[in-house]
Amino acid sequence: MDMDWKGKTVLLGVSGGIAAYKAVEIASRMRKAGAEVHVILTRAAQEFVTELTFREISGNPVNTGMWEKVTHWNVEHIALARMADLVLVAPATANLIAKLAVGMADDMLTTTILATHAPIFLAPAMNSNMFRNPVTQKNIKDLQDRGMEIIPPSSGHLACGADGVGRLPEPVEILSRVEGYFCKAGALQGKKILVTAGGTIAPIDPVRFIGNRSSGKMGYAVAEAAAKRGADAVLVSGVSALPDPVGVRTIRVETTEEMLRAVLEEFPDSDAVIKAAAVADYRVKQVAGQKIKKSEGDWSIELVRNPDILHTLGQQKTHQVLVGFAAETQNLMEYAKRKLEKKNLDFIVANDVTAPGAGFQGETNIARMIFRDGKVEEYPLMQKTELAAAILDHVERLLGAGME
Ligand code: CTP
Repeated sequence: MDMDWKGKTVLLGVSGGIAAYKAVEIASRMRKAGAEVHVILTRAAQEFVTELTFREISGNPVNTGMWEKVTHWNVEHIALARMADLVLVAPATANLIAKLAVGMADDMLTTTILATHAPIFLAPAMNSNMFRNPVTQKNIKDLQDRGMEIIPPSSGHLACGADGVGRLPEPVEILSRVEGYFCKAGALQGKKILVTAGGTIAPIDPVRFIGNRSSGKMGYAVAEAAAKRGADAVLVSGVSALPDPVGVRTIRVETTEEMLRAVLEEFPDSDAVIKAAAVADYRVKQVAGQKIKKSEGDWSIELVRNPDILHTLGQQKTHQVLVGFAAETQNLMEYAKRKLEKKNLDFIVANDVTAPGAGFQGETNIARMIFRDGKVEEYPLMQKTELAAAILDHVERLLGAGME
């Protein structure tokens, strides 16, 4: 991937782990590529690598503490936070991650990160038990939810003698992740991308409802990725425990009819719609105003059909790229193709929800994309965030084709 580092000011934070030596190569590569590199070393990092090395490699004074004699008035922490086009922390230790997760600012690096508006990339590296510890995982998740980019550690032999996950990836790998981000940034500028996610529910009475197993993860990942590419991203979300994605205008609904209403309002000026929601096809005919009390014998509920939101959009579409999902347990290709035709879609993302690693609750999915011209693309097991990127690549391509 080719990214122009020229004119970019990068803040490289190094915290105290054995992998800190790899940060030297990261700084060197970024500078050679034309970036202006400023390094901040934490107290512990200075036990592993020296200020002198980074000063020579970056060509700039290195920041090590908050209280040393000021030699460059314009390089105090707020100035660094302001001038950075991106912040990369490699390695990011468990301790640093924990401090960032709670918003602590007790040294130069944490203070700068708290003050910056620049995109922040963290490359965690630590012993695998520390990495897997639920508290570290939760901290990472919290930071991700707040919009930080996590560059996942790789597996292999760790300095502590054990094998496992926790190694800092190679510098070229880390840099290519950062480059990928900047190549995509702005690719959907000026486009309105409407996404639906989560499950809609059918209320029975004030305390009960019929729902489904959708977690919302797939659609939330698409909406967040669209926002990162510069789109005006709007998410109409059914029931989901996930927090509003960063940078996305999120509208929460519960029933299919509410989702239809919200989607129709946003549809006319949208450029693309990605319908990842698991929509309840039926609703309860008579929703009780009061809690239904149990009685002897069985109970049956009469259900009536809900409108098909995507089908409605397919009929109303003027210029919009329409993407649907098909979650099936059998005859995947046949059912998915039928939905593509019937709902007038540009492509459909089909997945067999019975396959291990695919489906509603997990972080991963296995998908095929089926296009109008009959082309089929198969994807291996991948993170939902990666699949979101693949979906948006196709949306971008189709939007581009429409402009010619
Ligand atoms: N969908 C929708 N409105 C509905 C039902 C589904 O917009 N009432 C959308 C979903 O968001 C998804 C696609 O249609 O993008 C396919 O959903 P799915 O439930 O798999 O298919 P259905 O059309 O409901 O067909 P079936 O129940 O026969 O599988």
